Amino acid sequence: MGDHKRTFTDVKNVILSAHEEIGPRDKVSFYNKWAEQYEEDVALLEYRAPGLATECIASHFQGDKGSAKVLDVACGTGLVSLKLKDRGFQCFSGVDGSDAMLELSRRTGLYQDLWQCLLGLEPLPVQPDTYDVIVIVGALSVGHLPVSVIEELWFATKPGGYICMTTRANADNLQYKADLELLLEEMTRDRRLSRVSVTEVQDWERAVEDHETGYVPGVVYLYRKALAKHN
Ligand SMILES: C[S@@+](CC[C@H](N)C(=O)[O-])C[C@H]1O[C@@H](n2cnc3c(N)ncnc32)[C@H](O)[C@@H]1O
Repeated sequence: MGDHKRTFTDVKNVILSAHEEIGPRDKVSFYNKWAEQYEEDVALLEYRAPGLATECIASHFQGDKGSAKVLDVACGTGLVSLKLKDRGFQCFSGVDGSDAMLELSRRTGLYQDLWQCLLGLEPLPVQPDTYDVIVIVGALSVGHLPVSVIEELWFATKPGGYICMTTRANADNLQYKADLELLLEEMTRDRRLSRVSVTEVQDWERAVEDHETGYVPGVVYLYRKALAKHN
């Protein structure tokens, strides 16, 4: 993807090259190719989701952050765990489908465990009731993971633990966002989850679609797994 100084136009072209309709294997190979440029490009995109999710978790988490077990799902290069570390969390495990992204995560030295897993096609490779915090940033959107992955995150969360999720709220992702919210409402109604906070942010990241300008909105969701088990 070139070694000249990157511009926002380069970033737009890369992101638009990953068509929404591509399947999980093609999506992960897209990330394999993008990995080395990813952090430089998301800085140009003014991608705020890792920081926003971190602030949400850090402000609501009750307990000892240093010993809390955190699972960073679709961890990419490690941006979310890096921010959580700055807020006092220390025990990280990560999962991602892309070998190249995982290799960059590995180099951060942040993670005790890192697993390669093609979510949506393969089960989340962790034990039930294990994590105090599960965070998934930048991977719940049309063309990325199916909303059904939330069920797997729920199983892996300790009773009373937190699940933090983000999604975009721009036009192309509205159906996905509605499906995600419907599932969260169902799980809340079934008393498997309780809602802690839902925060809409207008300037989530810079718009890349031709029909959009400025910034697109997004949402940070924080839910808590019920203390009583309903497995
Ligand atoms: C936009 S990046 C977000 C990375 C990181 N969470 C962040 O906020 O910087 C999306 C990540 O999801 C991963 N991903 C996409 N589809 C996946 C799948 N089916 N299974 C596992 N990981 C997937 C990609 O490899 C990529 O690392």
